[in-house]
Amino acid sequence: MAAAVRWALVVAVAVALAVALDNGVARTPPMGWLHWERFLCGTDCAAEPDRCVSERLFTEMADVMAAEGWKEAGYEFVCIDDCWLAPTRDERGRLRADPRRFPSGIRALADYVHSKGLKLGIYSDVGNATCAGFPGSYGHYELDAQTFASWGVDLLKFDGCNAGSLELLAEGYRNMSLALNKTGRPIVYSCEWPFYLRPMQQPNYTEIKQYCNHWRNFYDVYDSWNSIKSIIEWTALHQDSIVKIAGPGGWNDPDMARVFLLLSQLVIGNFGLSWEQAVTQMAMWAIMAAPLFMSNDLRHMKPEAKWLLQNKEVIAINQDPLGKQGYRITKDKNFELWERPLSDRAYAVAVLNQQEIGGPQNFTFSLTFLGNGLACNPACRIQQILPTSRDWGVHNWVSSLSVEVNPTGTVLLKVVLL
Ligand code: GLA
Repeated sequence: MAAAVRWALVVAVAVALAVALDNGVARTPPMGWLHWERFLCGTDCAAEPDRCVSERLFTEMADVMAAEGWKEAGYEFVCIDDCWLAPTRDERGRLRADPRRFPSGIRALADYVHSKGLKLGIYSDVGNATCAGFPGSYGHYELDAQTFASWGVDLLKFDGCNAGSLELLAEGYRNMSLALNKTGRPIVYSCEWPFYLRPMQQPNYTEIKQYCNHWRNFYDVYDSWNSIKSIIEWTALHQDSIVKIAGPGGWNDPDMARVFLLLSQLVIGNFGLSWEQAVTQMAMWAIMAAPLFMSNDLRHMKPEAKWLLQNKEVIAINQDPLGKQGYRITKDKNFELWERPLSDRAYAVAVLNQQEIGGPQNFTFSLTFLGNGLACNPACRIQQILPTSRDWGVHNWVSSLSVEVNPTGTVLLKVVLL
């Protein structure tokens, strides 16, 4: 090989390596459970012992995750969000958990979670105070990173409230990343940096990816179809800038939280999403290579919700080792066609029906649309994964496929090149 070509290759590899935060974690989108959307900032354990943010809540979730198939399905992190802290730091300036709600401390909780084969996530904020008003990490990045590492924490969700200025926001996100790396403990670093930046400034995703393992771009998801739709639409509108950035070690996060509250609300009969819409959310979060964090009460789950959340085929798409995020190919009246390149010459394909009136409708599309014409050339096998599994058999390049999709529902397919 000519020296110049060799040199060009070395440079290309170096550039590629420089892109992702090199802490060895989040090679596929992280999966787990996060308390926020279901349990918010419940601090009154006397009145609400089952719902308050306390060590009991996290140990009980860890128990269920280990016992009821969640861990085997891939859900690994048990994550604490806001409101775990005591109102002040300790005499040595360290963060500490609220002593009444976490009498054994976070170190003991981490040990417990680890004993179940799971990992522990924690929450802090780049500014002076968290979004709910508890002590923030500003001015204490090194100390807080050391504290989290000494407790055995495996993931940090770092919020962006009360940062003061855009410069301090960026500096804080960078410094916490460096501080976490310095601890020597592999800790997934979950950022909200671009979300807080975007109203004022275009985020520099190349830089954000060098510091964070995943990052929120858009508003918190709510328990409404409107919210899910707006996240999907926002992602499609910004796909040219965000899709290429995602990959092993760094992911776009369409919100780790409220997503699956919606499913858990099926349990209590007060849900914001229909079954079709829940299927759409699960399918689209897989297409978008999104971190999968449930926020629900795993102690009381309906079998349908469990079936969807533990569906092996959907999770395999979400976790595909190629690590490429999907994108919208076309929007044709009420139908959207999305695809995600997968390993082993396969594609995940989603057909989403946005129509909110009438009944099921058929969408017919040519297989030449997929994979730039290569996904089914000369032939492919098509498997339907959601809403029900179905074998669509072998097709050739010039075939069309016609799928029936319920209003606000999604049909998720896997197309394997033969
Ligand atoms: C922000 C975040 C939420 C949650 C709350 C906690 O709103 O976007 O995900 O962490 O703060 O106060």
